[in-house]
Amino acid sequence: MKSANKEVNQLDKKHFATNAVHAGEEKEFTNRPLNTPIYLTSTFTFPDLDTAEKTFDFERSDYVYTRGNNPTIRALEEKMTALEHGNDAVAFASGMAAISSVLLSLLEKGDNLLAHQVLYGSAHNFISEILPRRGVATEFIDLRDEKVFLQKIKAGVDVIYFETPANPTLDIIDLEKIAKYADSYNIKVVVDNTFASPYWQKPLDEGIDIVLHSATKYICGHGDALGGIVVSNDQDYIQKLKFGYMAEYGGVMSPFNAWLMLRGLKTLALRMDAHAKNASQIADFLVSHPKIEKVYYPGQKDFADYQLAQKQMSGFGGIVSFEFAGDKEDIEVFLKKLKLIKLAVSLGDTETLIEYPFAMTHRGYAKDYLEKIGINANLIRISAGIEDVRDLIKDLDEALA
Ligand SMILES: Cc1ncc(COP(=O)(O)O)c(C=O)c1O
Repeated sequence: MKSANKEVNQLDKKHFATNAVHAGEEKEFTNRPLNTPIYLTSTFTFPDLDTAEKTFDFERSDYVYTRGNNPTIRALEEKMTALEHGNDAVAFASGMAAISSVLLSLLEKGDNLLAHQVLYGSAHNFISEILPRRGVATEFIDLRDEKVFLQKIKAGVDVIYFETPANPTLDIIDLEKIAKYADSYNIKVVVDNTFASPYWQKPLDEGIDIVLHSATKYICGHGDALGGIVVSNDQDYIQKLKFGYMAEYGGVMSPFNAWLMLRGLKTLALRMDAHAKNASQIADFLVSHPKIEKVYYPGQKDFADYQLAQKQMSGFGGIVSFEFAGDKEDIEVFLKKLKLIKLAVSLGDTETLIEYPFAMTHRGYAKDYLEKIGINANLIRISAGIEDVRDLIKDLDEALA
């Protein structure tokens, strides 16, 4: 497991849970508020034209317009910069706004993108459908297969994109190895760190160029706001992404959502520990249940990528997937019988959520393709919440009976 000193933020030497509470906050606001106020304003005023001109020339950093900068959004960007060990960050209206803007900012007509085959459904669609329409060649492979990976990057690749753990099969991709190869071929690497959150894994520390999140999930943590965030060590890139893509495409986060995320992040360390503890106990329960054929949890010793998860993560996260011994009708009955655990697509919330990727988040694909990449017709994904795990296991047990 990753050593604890990795959690120390090089920027100000504070530990993760301290940064989750304090980083980005406690600025020189009027009346010295403990928490960053919500700046619900679209625009900001200037005292005179000279100040306005200097601001537009970037000689001053005054706020101008919320689709560009806003103190509440900025506080979130600073907190996420500290938590991911980056140099700067930019917030977006959603995870997909972040993903689409990052990929469009890095790829031009004639470029090549290599992605891991298992990805969140809309990210997969963006890469397989939208980028090719803009002249970008895209290919999905199993990035864990080193031989195939090396063949592909030798043939010419501009960007590598993946999630680790991947949604929903929890494939673990070797951050350090991919970063090292990519560096020698001058390839940019983008990692979606939504499932692990910076609490369990910091891809920038492993040499990854750009890390992004669906902040809708663990960053927010309460299922009440959409958001996306991108963090990098390359401050010039973040400035380009912020003013050339976020502000121009217009996928800006609402200041109110930024405030919800700031509030959510204060308890990220506590929540992630609780999610992971529950997920691990749910995985143990499912492993021993006769109606379950296979369990996918990075913390299970017989999980295919267990050794790698152990090497690059400091904990195994809150998502468990499993294969049900039965057909779609049996799955329907099981899902209907659950009382506490809710059928829903999202994850990372305080409530435990369950979903059936084959018919829900990954429905748009050819069924044989899904089977080929391991998203089988009997695969179910659970996002463990922070309830008492005894109630969650009782709910599962009764629904499986
Ligand atoms: C791993 C992952 N990345 C990105 C997204 C997209 O995020 P959003 O729904 O905030 O646009 C999701 C959504 O479920 C996801 O699971």
